[in-house]
Amino acid sequence: MDAKALQSAAAARGSNYYLTGIPDGPLPFVFEAGLPDPATFPAAELGRLFTDVLEADTAELQYGSPIDGDLGYGNIGLRRLLAQRTLEIDGRTVDHAGVMLTSGGVQGIAEAVAAFLDPGDHAVVEAPTWDYTLRAIQATGAEATAIPIDDDGMQIDLLEQHIARLAASGERLKLVYIIATFNVPTAVSLSEERRRRLVTLAQEHSFVIIEDNVYADLRYDGERLPSLYSLDDAGLVVKVDSFSKTMMPALRLGWVTGDPAAVDAMARVRRDLGVSQLVARAIARFVGDGRYEPHIASVCELYRTKRDAVAAALEQHCTGTMTWNNPAGGYFFWLELADDVDGKAVQRAAFMEGVLCRPGERFYGEPEHGKQRLRLAFTMAPVADLERAVEILGKSAATNRR
Ligand SMILES: Cc1ncc(COP(=O)(O)O)c(C=O)c1O
Repeated sequence: MDAKALQSAAAARGSNYYLTGIPDGPLPFVFEAGLPDPATFPAAELGRLFTDVLEADTAELQYGSPIDGDLGYGNIGLRRLLAQRTLEIDGRTVDHAGVMLTSGGVQGIAEAVAAFLDPGDHAVVEAPTWDYTLRAIQATGAEATAIPIDDDGMQIDLLEQHIARLAASGERLKLVYIIATFNVPTAVSLSEERRRRLVTLAQEHSFVIIEDNVYADLRYDGERLPSLYSLDDAGLVVKVDSFSKTMMPALRLGWVTGDPAAVDAMARVRRDLGVSQLVARAIARFVGDGRYEPHIASVCELYRTKRDAVAAALEQHCTGTMTWNNPAGGYFFWLELADDVDGKAVQRAAFMEGVLCRPGERFYGEPEHGKQRLRLAFTMAPVADLERAVEILGKSAATNRR
């Protein structure tokens, strides 16, 4: 990535990682976005499957059939397979009418926000959270309140207090957006006990939960936690999944799972004619042939190695100047610089040596938060680059004390 091009793109967006006095030429160590390692893309297999579909399903490569909601909801074959996967993973029987394909997880989130929020409504997100959703909620004219997380995820006591405060002023909570498994940027997961309390609260107060599950399959340690979707029998949880993080963002393929009535409400606000039949049919073959779970397992193996390499490098180069999480899954290290280290100066110094992480402020609604934080995406880069970048970060932190 070229540093000057990045600077002008960032400036055009009013982004807070606009930095002055940047180096010329490419940036060698970019850990800014949540990107998978291209080495994991099953390119040859997908090539064969795309060819198979083009040859065998030629007549079907239209928009989709109006039967069974194939047009709009997406290819029925893949939706059936994903419904079956939900049964296997979540222990929940879901009809294909409760599964809709989307253009990545992001479309599922956008549709849920559009379907369930009106101007003036109240929504809750985690602090910190993925800023895209925060902005999507605010764009509807709804009010987003960020509830802080601790090591067990969103602090449900604080959520309860917020609900009570709203009730005292005659208002109610309409929607919670939560990355319950491997929160972005912290990689913290909501504990099982809190999952149960959150679902109970949703049932008591009739609010919808958007469960952003796009990183949940990428677990490197420990046991899978029950999804919020699996714990709810009142149809209030919409689970958002994606093939982007496990397979390849360019597929632009994700899916939502929920009560058919909730999915129908989302289908009504979508303004396209469904996802690509070609892509969905190729992925249906991949999943149907039993290749998806082994693919995820091999991706996890690679990312576990990278995670461990970064943890060791942090230990070696950054002890004393910052603290960090040990991500049990997902894509990110979340670094916190010590109080006596100048966060902005470190960011600039590391950037001058070609290291770019995402600034912490991006994950909070209020810009005064997160100044001492950096998110480092560890999945895409080769191990040697990750190690070198952490060394640069450590040196930048050591030489930029207040
Ligand atoms: C937390 C989170 N949710 C959802 C997405 C959506 O990704 P996609 O639309 O590629 O599935 C992303 C991508 O960065 C993400 O980080």
